[in-house]
Formats: sequence, C-alpha cells, structure tokens
Amino acid sequence: MKKNFAAKAGSEKELLWQSRFSEPMDERALKFSSSVHIDWRLYKEDIMGSIAHATMLAEEKIISKADAAKITKGLREIEKEIEAGKLDLDWRQEDIHTLIENRLKEKIGDVSGKLHTARSRNDQVATDTRLWMRRTADEIIAALNAMNQTLIDKAEASQKIIVPGYTHLQRAQPILLAHYYLAYLEMFSRDVERFEDALKRINRSPLGAAAFAGSSLPVNRRRTGSLLGFSDILHNSIDAVSDRDTVIEFVSACAVVMMHLSRFAEDVILWTSEEFKFLEISDAFATGSSIMPQKKNPDMAELVRGKTGRVYGDLIALLTMMKGLPMSYNRDMQEDKPPLFDAATTTLDCLHIFDLLVQHTRVREEHLARITANDLSLATELAEYLVRKGVPFRDAHRITGKIVSFSLQHQTALPQISLSDYQTFSPQFDQDVFDVLTPEASVNRKRSEGSTSPQSVAAQLRRHKTKKKSTPPRPLY
Ligand code: ARG
Repeated sequence: MKKNFAAKAGSEKELLWQSRFSEPMDERALKFSSSVHIDWRLYKEDIMGSIAHATMLAEEKIISKADAAKITKGLREIEKEIEAGKLDLDWRQEDIHTLIENRLKEKIGDVSGKLHTARSRNDQVATDTRLWMRRTADEIIAALNAMNQTLIDKAEASQKIIVPGYTHLQRAQPILLAHYYLAYLEMFSRDVERFEDALKRINRSPLGAAAFAGSSLPVNRRRTGSLLGFSDILHNSIDAVSDRDTVIEFVSACAVVMMHLSRFAEDVILWTSEEFKFLEISDAFATGSSIMPQKKNPDMAELVRGKTGRVYGDLIALLTMMKGLPMSYNRDMQEDKPPLFDAATTTLDCLHIFDLLVQHTRVREEHLARITANDLSLATELAEYLVRKGVPFRDAHRITGKIVSFSLQHQTALPQISLSDYQTFSPQFDQDVFDVLTPEASVNRKRSEGSTSPQSVAAQLRRHKTKKKSTPPRPLY
C-alpha cells in the first residue's frame, strides 16, 4: 500500500472543532499533535465503525435511509482509495478519523456532516482500536498455531534423538529432543489461550459512549455493537472512552510471547555454537562475517532476542502513560497507538521468522550421540538404581556423588567403571547396573506422566494433535 504522509500546499481543511476558534491552529502545533502517520493503520476499522454507526442512525430514524446509504457508499469508496494508495495520508488532517470525514465531505457534500451524530472521536478511536486488536489478535493466534504445528512436526521427527538436558546451564539428565520441542509447544499454547482470553474483554463495544457522558439522542448501542461483531457493549460510558487496560493486556500478552521466543532464541544461539554443536541453521537463515570467513551467525535468533526488549518497552510505555491520567479522556491516550502497533507487528514478525528458522535447522545427531553416551548426567540413573535395590534415596545420592568424584578423578566414564569398583561403593551394585547406564535407558525408564520417556512424549504429541483449535466467528471481517 502506497503511503504519502506529506501535506500538500493548500491542503488545509477545517478541523472538526475549528468553529469555536478565531484563528487557525498554528502549523507547528498541528504537526506536533497530528497522528495520521501512526493511526492511518486504523482506516479499515474506522470505516467499518462509521458504516455500522450510520446504519444504526438510519434504523433509529435519527438520519434518513437515503443519507445513510450515501454515507456508506462514500465510505466504501474511501476505503478503496486508501487501499489503492490514491488518498494522501495528509498530516494536516489531524488524525485518521478527521481525514476520512473530510474526504467524505469532498465526495458527498454536507450529508457527511450527519455521520458524526451522537458520536465523538473519543468513542470512535476506542472502537477502532478494539476492532484492530481483535483482528490482530486473530493473526497472532494464527501465527502461534503455525509455530506450534512446526513444533509438532519437529517433535515427531525427533522422538529417538537424545540431547543433554540442562539446569543451571549444567548438564543434568538426558532428554528426548522431542520432549524439549514439546515444552515450547506448551508455552506457545498458553500464549494462544492468553490472547483468546484477552479477546473476551477486547471484544466489547465502546461506540455510543460519545465524548464520555453518553448521548441525548436515541442511539442503539447494542445494535452497532452487534453489527461490528462485538459480543457485548461496555456498560459505563466514562470507562468506555477512558480506559486502555485491554491495550495493556494485549501488549502484555505480546510481551509474554516475546519472552518465550527470546528464550528459544537463546537456546538456538547456544546450540548452534561450536561449543554445543547440537543444531545447524541452514545457510539461508544465517549470516556471515565481513572479516572472519569461517563465521556463520544466528542473527535471526539474536534479533528476536533483541526485539523482545522493545516489546517490553512498549508495555512499560503504556502502563506509565496511563498511571496518572485524571478521568476521563485525555489526549495523552493518543500515545497508546505507537506501542500497540509496534508490539503487535514486532511479535508477528518475530513469530513468522522464528517459525521459519526452526523449520530450517538440522540436528547434528552424530555429535549428540557421541556426547550423551558417556555423560555424567547418567548419575541420577545410578541413584535411582540403588533406590530400586532398597537403598534410601539420601544414601543413594551420597553414594552416587562419591562415584561421580571417582569418575572425574580417574577420568573414567560411568559405563566404563568396573563392577568391582562399583561394589566398593555399595554391595547393592550388580552386573545389571550397566543396563541403566545408557542415555536410552535413562529416558526409557522414566515413568511419571509428562516425563521425557518415549511413551509420555508420544502421549503428549497425541494430545496436541487431537486438540481442537478454536476459530471464533468474526462478523464483518
Ligand atoms: N487522535 C485521537 C486519539 O487517538 C482521537 C481522539 C481525539 N479526541 C479529542 N478529544 N481530541 O486519541
């Protein structure tokens, strides 16, 4: 979409509130306060909201059906003009609401003046923002579901691959790589739930609250609400125009998605390094160094991690912007849009690129097989082996600790220590101890629900694959 924010000489039009003033607004003040370069993104929602409003005004006989039809036709044409890049997004029009109304006046003349009956830009912008969040939340949910499908595919393909699992970034116990992917699948599934839950509160109509006190004209708020696909109206007109908690909730849900992505990105950055060598990113999603020819850098993952800070900043900007505002509407609230749009588009961009990045990574199975075979992370197996032979866990832990120290001292991996050496630590050790000292045995022996055992991983996969994805109906979109 072509966007031209420049203001042409002579493009001044009357601002919606001009008549009370005896001199025109100073150009510098207008430029400072204009939001067209930001809120043009609401054009579609603004037009939908206006069409619903005009329809209701005609139904309630506040304006004639013929006038409503003219208004609706004009608005639909303006939508096409904007989409074709034919309408300059002129900052002199103060905001997208004014710009559209002024254009409507050019097209249909004075009838356009009837559209704003029983409406203020305060309830208008609140309505537009909610409709925009609803549409964008649906897009983010779709991107999260796509990411989850990638994770299901990756998990399915890695049900036999064992990787070292970490706590404190120290090797802890072997796990199935599939189990690891499924952990992120759980996190992103909760992110979907978070947006779905936020949508319940976002999807309520402020339209008809007017400036903040309501209107003396017989508007039907429930009708505009249902025309726009809102599930309810906001029940207090002051609240309807003056709170931005749903914007904060939306951006907060974005921040949690970014936090999850950023941790995942950190893993990818570590795991693709020469120090780990667990994964390799395909060349198409890596970058090189202009000076060190051997380098293959995980820039996509680093940018996702870096952009997380921006989205956190958006959330803090909103919380801070709102914290001291007296009731009810204040112009400060126009500043909700840059952080909202930034958080939403950043989250969407990051979900898309990270999904591709995950799809385009290869597992370095040979290396993983080598490092997991003789790893000290099998020590927990030894302790649980002794428990099964009747040794209290505390004693088993102490005995195993001594064996680990022996292994380190003699530079002998746990499976290579002889049975007679094992028996010097505990008489309970027998030949079958060697059966548990493989990474496969370690994962296979897990019994608890949700564990890393192949059965549990298969059950987790089944659960996700049969889970129904909700797709809420969205009238008019
Ligand atoms: N551009 C304004 C905003 O985003 C629209 C509402 C203006 N209302 C007003 N009373 N100045 O908040």
